[in-house]
Amino acid sequence: MLHLIRTQAELRDVVFRLKQKNKTIGLVPTMGNLHEGHLSLVRQAKVDNDVCVTSIFVNPTQFNDAEDLKKYPRTEAQDILHLEREACDFLFMPSADEVYTDNPCLLFQFGSLESVLEGKYRDGHFSGVATIVSKLFHWVSPTVAYFGQKDLQQFRIIETLVKDLSFPLQLKMCPIVRENNGLAMSSRNNRLSTEEKTQAAHLYKALTSIKELIHTDELPNLINQAKAYLSAQNINVEYLEVVDAYNLQTIKENKKQKAVACIAAYVGEVRLIDNLFLNHFKE
Ligand code: PAJ
Repeated sequence: MLHLIRTQAELRDVVFRLKQKNKTIGLVPTMGNLHEGHLSLVRQAKVDNDVCVTSIFVNPTQFNDAEDLKKYPRTEAQDILHLEREACDFLFMPSADEVYTDNPCLLFQFGSLESVLEGKYRDGHFSGVATIVSKLFHWVSPTVAYFGQKDLQQFRIIETLVKDLSFPLQLKMCPIVRENNGLAMSSRNNRLSTEEKTQAAHLYKALTSIKELIHTDELPNLINQAKAYLSAQNINVEYLEVVDAYNLQTIKENKKQKAVACIAAYVGEVRLIDNLFLNHFKE
């Protein structure tokens, strides 16, 4: 049965009792409006651990646009049904006041890891993510915490957070769950019209073309071709880059083994992100 927790105190109490019984805990942090991508993390957490704690909290400190925060879809009742179906054990769904008594003044900096890709366009975003994720790690002290490759830069930031602050836990990155047409699942897809959903599938096609042609041409040429392809589909690319899958710095020559193509683009009004590993490797 899914047990709903609203307060830090109750959460700490539940965790204390689980630890006394030597239970392993899988934590899945989310902002709700759950889809198959989120649920794949819950399933993995259930497979690996005795209990699964999912959190749903639309974290204000990671939004740099107040409108975006206001517009963020809140679908509590539906999310609860999804989690019940997945046999998730605990749902932590606090209010904003429960999490932040005041605006936090602590800021995180991740150096070169956040001066690229999303970090360039979303000032302060990763500091807000690091703040909420640190709080969750303290409250839940999970055995393993689960995040999606969909937000690869977020995963690298959280890896750094765990290493630098010595959080005693393991991180697991789960693969991107896609629609049949290749579109990466995202809460933002709900804002796309049916035509735009078809159009948005070209993002994945563009990434795939880079992967398929990687041994036939120079990277800058492949990237330019992919950009031209997307522009012909009326897709407005914010960035399309091939980067080192670990330090996320741009790769100019196809020599490195662990490369990933990352994209952010507008389909109509909606900003979407996606990425694709260009060579086979396991974390
Ligand atoms: P949210 O966007 O709700 O995503 C929660 C988790 O689901 C993240 O780890 C994300 O990478 C993963 N996810 C989203 N779409 C996915 C997909 N198509 N396939 C696989 N995994 C997917 O990311 C956040 O929330 C927040 O920043 C959070 C970490 C909760 C901190 O507030």
